[in-house]
Amino acid sequence: MPNLLYLSVSSRGEGSHSRQAGACMMAWMERRYGPLAVIARDLAANPPPHIDGPMARASLMPPAERGPAEHAALALSETLIGELEAADVVLISTPMHNFTVPSALKAWIDHVVRPNRTFRSTPAGKVGLLADRPVLAVVSCGGPFHDGPGSQRDLMTPYLQYVFGSVGITQVEVLRMENMARGADFVACGFERLEAWTGSLAIRAA
Ligand SMILES: Cc1cc2nc3c(=O)[nH]c(=O)nc-3n(C[C@H](O)[C@H](O)[C@H](O)COP(=O)(O)O)c2cc1C
Repeated sequence: MPNLLYLSVSSRGEGSHSRQAGACMMAWMERRYGPLAVIARDLAANPPPHIDGPMARASLMPPAERGPAEHAALALSETLIGELEAADVVLISTPMHNFTVPSALKAWIDHVVRPNRTFRSTPAGKVGLLADRPVLAVVSCGGPFHDGPGSQRDLMTPYLQYVFGSVGITQVEVLRMENMARGADFVACGFERLEAWTGSLAIRAA
């Protein structure tokens, strides 16, 4: 049975379009792969804390010098990395906030992308230490992205691909559902695009 790590991020509860899209994705994955062993992380209900001084110091010091206080400071990070390592597939449902990831998802990333744990710094840049696996992200956005009045720059899709790439995860597929705050017709269009997207995905869950 494939292990699925499901990160949900919206704070809008049942009214959340990205959570509804995440539920559609879960149903699609179960139809395609059978039962899933799901680890669900609701980052809105339980946001990881910002990186504080003790965590930053413990993260950057040589592992052999860490004592009980440093291990305690890294405990949540270890738990979150363990969940990621155990996942055959990662599903993320999230809104876009100010052109990029909401701060709760950024905090999760800050706990998971760690020197000498999930990546190594080399003269040629960061080398990821995790095995590759698919990451599927459905992103709900209030406004538009195509040319025309009010269109925005998407910093989130390249960011997600780049930051997961830095730990060795290169199979990052992102669906941006646009104009989701602009009424029912746009919302319907977003979910039609979600269905077409699932039809086009060629992921393999172990
Ligand atoms: C703090 C905040 C920042 C936002 N920034 C953007 C943005 O930069 N671009 C955009 O298109 N929508 C933005 N939105 C709108 C949400 O992305 C949009 O309403 C989305 O569909 C909400 O997803 P949800 O229904 O899953 O909560 C923002 C919303 C909030 C609350």
